Formats: sequence, structure tokens, C-alpha cells
Amino acid sequence: MSTPCRLPARVLSNQRAGADTYWLEIDAPPIAQAAVPGQFVMIGFGLGRLDAPFLPRPFSVGWRGDDGRIGLLVRRFGTGTHRLAALRPGDEVLLLGPLGRGFRWEQDSPLICIAGGVGLAPFLFMAPEAIRHGATVEILYGERTGDRVFDPQLVEKLTGIQPRLYTEDGSRGQIGRVIDGIERGRRIQLFGCGPTPMLRALERLAREEDLPLQVSVEEHMGCGIGTCQGCVVRSVAGEWIKSCTEGPVFRREELSWRD
Ligand SMILES: Cc1cc2nc3c(=O)[nH]c(=O)nc-3n(C[C@H](O)[C@H](O)[C@H](O)COP(=O)(O)OP(=O)(O)OC[C@H]3O[C@@H](n4cnc5c(N)ncnc54)[C@H](O)[C@@H]3O)c2cc1C
Ligand code: FES
Repeated sequence: MSTPCRLPARVLSNQRAGADTYWLEIDAPPIAQAAVPGQFVMIGFGLGRLDAPFLPRPFSVGWRGDDGRIGLLVRRFGTGTHRLAALRPGDEVLLLGPLGRGFRWEQDSPLICIAGGVGLAPFLFMAPEAIRHGATVEILYGERTGDRVFDPQLVEKLTGIQPRLYTEDGSRGQIGRVIDGIERGRRIQLFGCGPTPMLRALERLAREEDLPLQVSVEEHMGCGIGTCQGCVVRSVAGEWIKSCTEGPVFRREELSWRD
């Protein structure tokens, strides 16, 4: 993995792309050049300002352009994401990245990407990269409700493919959970990013079907570089490991799924 860089960067655009959901493009050539799918950036506002949040927040690199742009998919939760949603072109943010370990794949079998909510972000980056190298890619994308669905036209523009959409209330796409869309009994590579219950269900399915699976975990992160211990997950050996440096992408065999 390349060395991460810290840089002030300009917001180029920030558009609403679903309920409480934004697509933020930032001019960050060193990060765009170095990032691989599954890696993330820490984005913050610096200590020169007295308004919260003081700590940066982690976001998957959701896309990169040849002109040095990166795209982040941002869903509003608390203080940090409300500030990100309010950014305007020309505003400055502080970026640190690219960070962590990304997804790896083989070309010999289809890649099935299972995205829950904002877990879609790393696959917006991964799908076009893998397709460009000859892989077959499908994205199965689930949201609780239809109003939260990330703009399908934007997904197609960024990835070149249409995800198979599932909503729990059935208001858009097929009704049900995204896991239900995985076809059993065929040789595929699974990739997951989303809420922990979804990742657990995916791990169970992958174990039953003896399929390779990599997951990207979304723990709270304070630093992104291995110093605060805020992001630990339990390894299969029972040790706490830092998801910012050892992950956020793990093979299913590396993690303990018991608790
Ligand atoms: C590697 C990584 C990649 C991520 N990529 C994306 C992305 O592409 N798009 C996106 O929208 N979000 C992503 N997230 C989650 C994002 O970082 C959090 O939503 C954000 O930090 C929340 O900040 P906040 O200040 O708005 O909320 P806070 O004020 O910090 O928290 C608001 C509420 O949300 C809860 N919360 C905050 N973060 C998390 C979390 N990670 N898991 C569960 N609950 C949480 C808090 O406990 C609190 O209840 C990613 C997280 C990680 C670790
Ligand atoms: S986020 Fe600080 S150690 Fe991982």
C-alpha cells in the first residue's frame, strides 16, 4: 500500500443523491492516484476552528477521476456528516489518505458485491476498476426504505452497471434483504460492506457455500492511522486488531464472528 498523505483540499461539488445522502467531489490528485478500492480517507476541518467536530471522520473512497477528483458518498448521522452535507464548492477540508487495506480479487469467477446502505460506496470505485481488468461484476444494493436509495443514474454513470436493488419496505426495487439475492450453488467471489447484522448473515452464507468472502467493517475511528485504538475488531485468534491499519477489509477467515 502507498504512503498516505495529509492535504488541504477544495470541494468541487456536493449534490443531494437521496434522502439524507450526498455525493461529494473533492480535488485531491495524490489520493486519487494512489487509492485502491476499499481504502478510505479521514476527512476533517482542522483544529484552527472551534466548532465541532474536532476529530476527522472516515469515509470510503467512493470513486476517483483521471483528473484527480475523488468522490465520497456521505449519509447524514451526526455533527460531522451534517457539516459534510453542508459543504459548498470552494470550501476547504483536510484529508488524510488513502488509508487501510483494500479489496483484492481474482479474474476467474464473478465478483458479487453486497452493499447495505452507505456500504455501496467502496463498490462504486471497485466495480469499474474490476470491469476494466476483465472481471464480471454484480452489485446487490439494499436500503431500508426507497427514499434513501442512492441516485441510480449516478450509480450507472460512475460504474457503468445497474445494481440489483432491494428495499425492506418494497417501495423501490425488490422487497426483501439484499442477502436474499445471492444465488447459491455457483462459483463466485463475495464482497460485503454494510451493517454488522448484514455482514454476519453474509459470513454464514459464505461458510455454508464454501465461498471466498471479504468484508469491509465500519467501526468508529478516531485517528485512522493506528494510534487511538478506537477501531478494534476481534481476530479469529481472539486478539483485538485495529481495523484502520489491518483492515477495513478482512477475509472472513481473519475475523471472529462469535460476538
Ligand atoms: C472505513 C469506514 C468507511 C466509511 N465509509 C462511509 C461512507 O462511504 N459513507 C458514509 O456515509 N459513512 C461512512 N462511514 C461511516 C462514517 O464514518 C460515520 O457515519 C461518521 O463518522 C459519523 O460521523 P458524525 O459526526 O456524523 O456522527 P457522530 O456524531 O460521530 O455519531 C452519530 C451517531 O452515529 C453513530 N455512529 C457514528 N459512526 C458510526 C459507525 N461507523 N458505525 C455505527 N454507528 C456509528 C454514533 O454512535 C452516533 O449514535 C465509514 C466508516 C468507516 C470506519
Ligand atoms: S482509528 Fe485510531 S487506531 Fe484505528
